[in-house]
Amino acid sequence: MSDWSADDSIIRYTGTLQSAYGHAYGQCPYVRISPTETDISDIDSVKQIHSPQDPYRKSDWYGPLTDGINGVYALLPNDAHRARRRAWGNLWSNTNISMMEPAVRKYVYICAEKINRELEAGRKPDLMHWFQFLTTDVIAEISYGKDMGMLENETVSSFVQDLLAILVIGAIRAQFPFLGMVQKIMSYIPHPSVQWFINANKRISDYSDQAILDYRREVQSARDKKGNLRPSLLATLLDDLDNPNVKHKMTMEEIRWEATDNLIGGSDTVTITATYLIWAIYRHPNVRAKLETELRNAIDDGQEITDEKIQHLPYLKIVIKEVLRLYSAGQFGLPRVVPDGGRLIGGYYFPAGTNVTSQGYTVHRDPEVFDEPYAFKPERWLNPTKEMENSLMPWGGHSRSCLGQNLAMMELRLIAAVMLTVCPSATLAEDCTDDSMELENYFVLRPKGHKCELVSSR
Ligand code: HEM
Repeated sequence: MSDWSADDSIIRYTGTLQSAYGHAYGQCPYVRISPTETDISDIDSVKQIHSPQDPYRKSDWYGPLTDGINGVYALLPNDAHRARRRAWGNLWSNTNISMMEPAVRKYVYICAEKINRELEAGRKPDLMHWFQFLTTDVIAEISYGKDMGMLENETVSSFVQDLLAILVIGAIRAQFPFLGMVQKIMSYIPHPSVQWFINANKRISDYSDQAILDYRREVQSARDKKGNLRPSLLATLLDDLDNPNVKHKMTMEEIRWEATDNLIGGSDTVTITATYLIWAIYRHPNVRAKLETELRNAIDDGQEITDEKIQHLPYLKIVIKEVLRLYSAGQFGLPRVVPDGGRLIGGYYFPAGTNVTSQGYTVHRDPEVFDEPYAFKPERWLNPTKEMENSLMPWGGHSRSCLGQNLAMMELRLIAAVMLTVCPSATLAEDCTDDSMELENYFVLRPKGHKCELVSSR
């Protein structure tokens, strides 16, 4: 591991080790990446590690990453995780999320129209910047029923800066756990910018606390007249709290953690994946042309796009699938711990307590499964093999798969369709190159250039 440097990507480096020492994915897709950790990339073994029937718990790596926010994402013991997922019930199901589509659609339209205005004014709107506002407004609306006004105010608020700081701090702490101590020492340094960085987590939790307080106050007065709940996830969780007939529910403390978790997990991931989605479409004019034709045929002139009208469009579906394979934000190693008694994985014995990782980045680029694995080819999904379908894991392993995937998919579909319709002249700016869009690893992956600018082709 001595070749790894901070400006390289540990994900790519692990992939390189797999190729060099794992006999190019064939016979031996197991590479020991530290004295206690093995990265595994053959899909049967990956499935075994993430099987809900025999779940391997998340490793202690997640502790420094999530730093005391004990939302469902950070729960390490399997039974605690199971209980929390049960308490979420079907709130993240397609049926429930689709009821919130009008709100999501409203924000997507506002965002695309603002981007188009920038283009028409001769400016170079940055997708990362706009999508960060969009996804934060969406997740706040879904979670709290509250408009955070990011798109409206068009400023990088301290809230967005906090979100980014949390992700950077968490990623560094998870990769270099000893830095937790450095952070503790830093917390005694009274300099305002050091304190700002250190306290980002707390400010996001405070925001969630305030949203819960506001909500309770509003509900108490609103209930007298209508008795209806405003449709938001938090509203339902809080309602469950007061309802003696609900069997599986969260405590107030758990609701606070979940509220914070949503804001952190539901914004950056979609921002980055959506940025790559639009970039990949604009980067491949033939793909863009096919999508535009498909949309023209599905949506009558002047009609608003809705998720209902686009969710089954076949070409849009495979474009998103290919983007998720190559560019989804969460392709890191998903570290897990081998359960008591040890396990045979792919014929090798792994003692209990050993850490095993399995990164989507490598699995998604396995040349035995994907022809020209680095090429962006949506058409490969027209007739996928069983191995291809099995190997796609943008939402993580089965036992801990992404709770927000239905919402994320809705956002991605709407963003692609609305951007193509509302911003017909948009194209990539000159400095948005393949190099600037190289994936860089900050726990979530993001473009090396940290932006993706557009210009108008008119
Ligand atoms: C394109 C966008 C997204 C991608 C690529 C993505 C990816 C992932 C991945 C790979 C995992 C597994 C991580 C692990 O095992 O450590 C995960 C888990 C999770 N994601 Fe997402 N995610 C996205 C959007 C969202 C959204 C919108 C939410 C909404 C709040 C969300 C909430 C969660 C939660 C709560 C978990 C933990 C589930 C559990 O442990 O039971 N994600 N996501």
